[in-house]
Order: sequence, then structure tokens, then C-alpha cells
Amino acid sequence: MSDAHPDNQRNSTVKAKVPRHVAIIMDGNGRWAERRHMPRFAGHKAGVDAVRRVVEVMGRRGVEVLTLFAFSSENWRRPEKEVSLLMDLFMVALEREVKRLNKNNVRLRIIGNIEGFSEKLQKRIHKAQALTADNTGLVLVVAANYGGRWDITQAARKLALRVEAGELRAEAIDAEMMAGELCLSDLPEPDLFIRSGGEMRISNFLLWQLAYCEMYFTDILWPDFDEGVIDDALASFSRRQRRFGRTGQQVEEGAEGA
Ligand code: IPE
Ligand code: IPE
Ligand code: MG
Repeated sequence: MSDAHPDNQRNSTVKAKVPRHVAIIMDGNGRWAERRHMPRFAGHKAGVDAVRRVVEVMGRRGVEVLTLFAFSSENWRRPEKEVSLLMDLFMVALEREVKRLNKNNVRLRIIGNIEGFSEKLQKRIHKAQALTADNTGLVLVVAANYGGRWDITQAARKLALRVEAGELRAEAIDAEMMAGELCLSDLPEPDLFIRSGGEMRISNFLLWQLAYCEMYFTDILWPDFDEGVIDDALASFSRRQRRFGRTGQQVEEGAEGA
């Protein structure tokens, strides 16, 4: 852990609690562009610059896993032109940004229904993941063609197949087993959820995995997301008491698992 990093102890003599896993809905690109009388796509491009900044700052703050919602399973409903420009941008970003990520020791992972993308894009995704697979720094998870309901459904289907094959009894299925089949099961659970752009909803992002996540909403539009916003969110997280069903007193007394 990099808790000892001076940035993590700023403004306080008490050591700040740093979330291990931060999950972000990057929203507000379109409105950012529209306010500038620019095409929505300009907002998406500016959004990539924000991603670069956020990855860098989160790494410096000692966050271990950063999950970014880039394209939801519902975003196919957008005008064809916007979807196709987003796919082009994804292709370009995978090529250009991945080199930088690799240099910075970042491990990239894509979650979502990758089969929904073109062959070319799928190949680039696999290549990018392979290139960074052995990196030991920040784990950057990009959710693309991802939906929380899809995730839970694919997990249920995997277990059902095992039941059908006679390898598993239906009664043996519990929450832990389900969790094991979901995306991100090998990583720490998200501790802090952030949504930019002012909407207060989950929009089919990580549904199961956010069960006990701390939520933080900001009106800042994604292309304007910067170090200051990150520090506000991290400071808010640090002040919270996570009880996981227990009483505050139990947590203060350091009850088992609290
Ligand atoms: C988020 O920004 C990016 C994607 C969903 C791809 P939006 O494009 O949703 O921006 P707004 O919400 O229209 O401002
Ligand atoms: C959520 O944003 C998806 C991503 C940021 C990728 P949307 O802009 O698609 O969400 P809704 O439609 O406003 O709920
Ligand atoms: Mg939006």
C-alpha cells in the first residue's frame, strides 16, 4: 500500500482513508460540448483527456483499482453517428493511450460484452490487455458495452450450465458463488462510486458490486473533472463511517470485520 505517500496525509494529522477501488460514471461529455456550441463528439474527445488526468492522480493518491464506465449496454440507443464516432474514439484511445498506460505500469482490463464490438476493436482490446498484463501498478478497468444486468445474467448462466452438467447442486448456490462469476470478482470490491454530470442514478453500472459502496455525486461535467474534484471525493470518503450493517458503536470498538 502507498498510504505513506505524502498526498494521502494532506490537511490532516490523522491518516486519510484511501479507497482501494474507485468506480466512476463519466457523465456530462455531451452537455459540456453543447454549452460551448460544439458537437457532442468534442465533449467525448475532451473526456479522454480527463481520463488521462484521473488515472494519473488516482494512482498517485494510492488507489489500487479504478473502474471507468465508458459505454453502457444502453448507449447503442444513441444516434448511429454518435455511436460510430464513439467506437472510432475507443479505437484511437486504445492505440495511443495504451502505450502511455504501459509506460506508467498500469494494467488495463476491459469488462463488458466485448462480442458486441467489431472484430477489429475486439482484437485491439485483446492486444491492449496482453501488452499491460504483467504491469504491477494501478489496475484500470474500462467498462465497455457493460450493463450490471448483463453481468448478473451471465454469472447466473454460468452457474446454470454447471447445474445442467451435473457438476453443481442448485441448493449449493449462494451469494459468494454468484459473486465469483461476476466481473471484477478477483479484485477488491468498489469502495467509492463517483458520478459526474449531476445525475443521481446508477444507469445499469455495477449493480451487485456497489451493494456497500460509498456514493459521491458531483455536478462537474466529466471533461472538467480534475485533481480538485478527486480530492473532494476522496476527502468525503475519508470522513465516512462504513458500518456494513453494524452499529456505529460496534465499528468504533473495532468489531470483527468492521
Ligand atoms: C458520457 O457523457 C459518455 C458516454 C455515455 C459515452 P454523455 O454523452 O452521456 O454526456 P451527456 O450526459 O449527454 O451530457
Ligand atoms: C451512463 O451515462 C453510461 C456512461 C457514462 C458510459 P448515460 O449518459 O448513458 O446515462 P443515462 O442515460 O443518462 O442514465
Ligand atoms: Mg449522459
